[in-house]
Amino acid sequence: MSATKKGQGQLCVLILAAGQGTRMESTIPKVLHHVGGRPMLFYVLRIANALKPGSIGIVVGHEAGQVKAAATDMLKSVGIGRPLQAILQKKPLGSGNAVLEALPFLKKFKTAMVMCGDTPLLTYESIYNLFLTHEQLKGQATLLTARLANPKGYGRIVRGALGEVQRIVEESVASPKELALTEVNSGAYCFEVDALVQGLKEIGAKGPKKEHFLTDVMEAIRGKGGRIHAYTSSNSEEIQGINNRAQLSAAERVLNKRMLERLMISGVTIRDPQSTHVDADVEIGQDTVIYPGTILRGHTKIGRMCRIGPFTHIEDTQIGNECEVRFSYVIQARLLEKTSVGPFAHIRPESIIGPRARVGNFTEVKASKIGFGSKVNHLSYIGDADIAEDVNIGAGTITCNYDGKEKHKTTIGAKAFIGSNVNLIAPVKIGRGAKVAAGSTVTEDVPDDALAIARARQVNKT
Ligand code: UD1
Ligand code: CA
Repeated sequence: MSATKKGQGQLCVLILAAGQGTRMESTIPKVLHHVGGRPMLFYVLRIANALKPGSIGIVVGHEAGQVKAAATDMLKSVGIGRPLQAILQKKPLGSGNAVLEALPFLKKFKTAMVMCGDTPLLTYESIYNLFLTHEQLKGQATLLTARLANPKGYGRIVRGALGEVQRIVEESVASPKELALTEVNSGAYCFEVDALVQGLKEIGAKGPKKEHFLTDVMEAIRGKGGRIHAYTSSNSEEIQGINNRAQLSAAERVLNKRMLERLMISGVTIRDPQSTHVDADVEIGQDTVIYPGTILRGHTKIGRMCRIGPFTHIEDTQIGNECEVRFSYVIQARLLEKTSVGPFAHIRPESIIGPRARVGNFTEVKASKIGFGSKVNHLSYIGDADIAEDVNIGAGTITCNYDGKEKHKTTIGAKAFIGSNVNLIAPVKIGRGAKVAAGSTVTEDVPDDALAIARARQVNKT
């Protein structure tokens, strides 16, 4: 049975994301903290959507407007048209209270998958298996659990003599014997909505903060004759929740490792996975080699047979096949086929370079086009320029694009040759095949094939 067939109209997903996230010590709502280049809530939403439920609800409270808006954006950014229903939890009275606030939403469905917004490592496979276990065993509630060598911080699963799940005990109220249990609650559950509604009526405030624990609903459901089952994941890593920054960095490591493994399996060489960081949306083609100390962020796409790094940061950039980028910083740019950048280049937004172009050391390029086969090899600033094909820009050339108030454009025609240490005072046009003598400060357009010399003649005084 698939979630699709059974689920449509009968299954909903409820994501709990109203908590303050106190332990993050942050002004940013916890579920919006980034991990693997996306807010942690994104990963939970993506799984929720993949279940193809009748509806997705999200309980918001702390910074409700901000969380709701961000969640809506996240769904859009991955092309999900499924509507998201935000439910407001008026006061942060615990996960049980959060679900209670969502009852009007839940009651429209037979089955509810409840997930926490702070568990970005969960896999679709496990959540789907949780759903299948729930459907097959026909209990009132099914939990996703895992065994942890160090269960500290998690609710512990208490099982009976026959191995049946009896209840979940929160760490803050657990006995020493219960604290020694190593099977923990992931915070993801599948419920029959009727049983959940009945159970929630029974639970009271508990713990140091007088909260309603959703986990207490298990005992309440059993008390009414209901059955609780568990699907235990063999991948204990995936159930890790994020409550503080140390756990955030641990999750970052896990997501990065998964991403690098996926890339390596698909034919990308990663020389040093320990020092390579790749965000969740990055794509890399076959036989590309990533050298140590490389960070690939955002919506970056790299083609086949490229050499990237070492010590390179590339963000929201598209790179064609057979390109090379070494020791460089590239952001929101496009490098076309067989282009080479670096070492020590800075490529800024709206730059389109190549094919077969070369930007060399200590060169900055901003909002410029550098055409086929053109070279800016050393120590230059190229801003707001349109450089055609086969142009050679000499060392130390500067496009003076800013007059203190506005930015102006420099246009350089095909096969032009700009000598070393030239200032091009924009707006200015250098014609096709034109030459500019070294050391010139060019303030007027240069016609096609002309030689411009704009510098004082040398005088030797004795
Ligand atoms: C929770 C579970 C614990 C489990 C762990 C897994 C409870 C009582 N405990 O503990 O058994 O092992 O997750 O990571 O649920 N939330 C609200 N409103 C609130 C309080 C919390 O929406 O008033 C949301 C939070 O945003 C979060 C989730 O509920 O997404 C869990 O809350 P959190 O405080 O992180 O619980 P844990 O202590 O991690
Ligand atoms: Ca948590």
